[in-house]
Amino acid sequence: MAHQRVIVVGGGLAGLSTSMKLAEDGVAVDLFSLVPVKRSHSVCAQGGINACNEVARQQGYSEWEHFDETVFGGDFLANQPPVLEMTKMAPAIIDLLDRMGVPFSRTSEGNRDLRLFGGSLYKRTFYAGATTGQQLLYALDEQVRHHEVQGHITKYEFWDFLAPILDDAGRCVGIVAQDLRTMQIRAFRGDAVVMATGGNGLIFGQSTMSIICTGSGTARCYAAGARLGNPEFVQVHPTAIPGEDKCRLMSESARGEGGRIWVPKKKADSRHPNDIPENERDYFLERLYPKYKNIVPRDIATREIFYICEQGYGIGGGQMVYLDLTEKATGIPYEVLKGKLGGILEIYEKFVGVDPLIEPMRIYPAVHYSMGGLWVDFARDDKTGGMQKANPRNHMTNLTGLYAAGEADYQYHGANRLGANSLLSCIFTGLFAAPGMREYIKGQRPVAELSQRLFDGGVEQQQAAQAKLLNSKGTDNPYLMHRELGRAMSDNVTIIRCDSKLRQTLALIESLKERYQNNLGLPDSGMWNNQSLGFARACWDMLLLGEAVTTAALAREESRGSHYKIPDDLMDRHDIPLEKRSLPRDDGNWLKTTLVTYVDGKAQLSYEPVDTSLVTPRARNYGKVVAPAAAKAPVPEAAGAGT
Ligand code: FUM
Repeated sequence: MAHQRVIVVGGGLAGLSTSMKLAEDGVAVDLFSLVPVKRSHSVCAQGGINACNEVARQQGYSEWEHFDETVFGGDFLANQPPVLEMTKMAPAIIDLLDRMGVPFSRTSEGNRDLRLFGGSLYKRTFYAGATTGQQLLYALDEQVRHHEVQGHITKYEFWDFLAPILDDAGRCVGIVAQDLRTMQIRAFRGDAVVMATGGNGLIFGQSTMSIICTGSGTARCYAAGARLGNPEFVQVHPTAIPGEDKCRLMSESARGEGGRIWVPKKKADSRHPNDIPENERDYFLERLYPKYKNIVPRDIATREIFYICEQGYGIGGGQMVYLDLTEKATGIPYEVLKGKLGGILEIYEKFVGVDPLIEPMRIYPAVHYSMGGLWVDFARDDKTGGMQKANPRNHMTNLTGLYAAGEADYQYHGANRLGANSLLSCIFTGLFAAPGMREYIKGQRPVAELSQRLFDGGVEQQQAAQAKLLNSKGTDNPYLMHRELGRAMSDNVTIIRCDSKLRQTLALIESLKERYQNNLGLPDSGMWNNQSLGFARACWDMLLLGEAVTTAALAREESRGSHYKIPDDLMDRHDIPLEKRSLPRDDGNWLKTTLVTYVDGKAQLSYEPVDTSLVTPRARNYGKVVAPAAAKAPVPEAAGAGT
């Protein structure tokens, strides 16, 4: 098989783990990355990686509990066999990473330490301070370098993936990519192609994501015929530092380690937070969710923060709440939290200028992750209930030979991802799916035997598209168009959604697409390191994805996980609690996966059933109680809390 090669696009955890596993299995890999792999967005992951462990096991936890929490957290929209397989493999993945030298934080006895994370009452999250993603990325990078030296992996950094190449039968046989230094456009043959290009936070303007997270890899495959799965499910992380340029994540681990969210009980209280006494603070997540407290899952914490601010209790009456790590609130000594959370504390101090262990942080939710992505297949194993090992169908998109992995695929997180499950899903995907890719290419005619004409045609097509872009002399600047898109997506397609605003957003996207095609103007037409050319391409990609997300959100007439729909006439009734305003979860009509196909320049919807073969969907409210802030008496469960 030595002459067959797989192309992996994306240098984050999913791309590196896929490349490593393929190389170990004797498959040659060409690895493409927009940035040096160590600068991939995985480097920003902070809090940890979930897996069942011995400590939790002694308290009754198991891989099955991890599975159940994940599908429950995802409001039952994830196909269950892949989730079961992932959670079963998680403990072995932690051991593997440990052997690779990941500096997991340790207890004083030398065991790997654990912390709490959202959606679980068990400590089941392994971590490396508050820079877990960086440590994992660096460890996998070392493995990939080893294979590079051996000649099994060839790395192409600073290359932009432009399009998949499909043969006459629609099989993916390679890619067209551009060297961002020389601007050369080239075709590469690949017996299979794996998209591990991450999420698309930039379609919302500001997010916790890096500025490379435009979703272009996904969009370019979507434009070529690959389907999307569940694009309407967008995670808004509860705690980030709001920013003009971008929002900076303040990890869920801050709450896992004891951080508490609160607002002053008095509206627009102008006192310094440290001067507000305990009994004048509303620790609203603890009041509303006495079981899970500050570690309710993200969709829920985000909505509660949004609602408390909507009612006018945000800091100074605005859109921010306190995330308190001070010793006064947590009872945890300064030095202990400094040791465990140093990475994020430094970020806060650097950007806000305040030590968050001395003064509560001011935070607000921000777009963070996309549960949806390229639709991928799986082969169910009827004996285990999980996935069949080494089956070529696992993680293949609807285009033969085109795979997707990590955040770029839609497979594991349903309608809402649990924190610290993304590092797991990225690495799991690579390790589990690579053997299936190997089986797939074994059965194919090697692409090395295909006519060069096909590949030349792919290059010519991209050269023509580039020439057209460089010649565009209109007055619409791609950066400003992106700003318009981001604003509308953020305002209308994030925490709460209603049909009229979704329609408005679709109309805007329609007009932006029209302006892009007829009146685009590039600020730079040079052929040396032309940044605006790449951005203009990405701007189109973001318009396509924005349209897919919004079209799917408009169609889904229910609330589920991160998708929270409110009828138009109740949208501004801030006096009514969100759960009384929203549409309920509707399993009868909407327990189904959204599929989006790009047809005649538009997003076309269809649906397929969700595999719920292992656990039956049940109501999801995390024991929410409804009570006034000061109530002491027993309080009833929230009514109709389907979500
Ligand atoms: O909050 C965090 O540390 C983020 C973790 C994640 O998205 O999994």
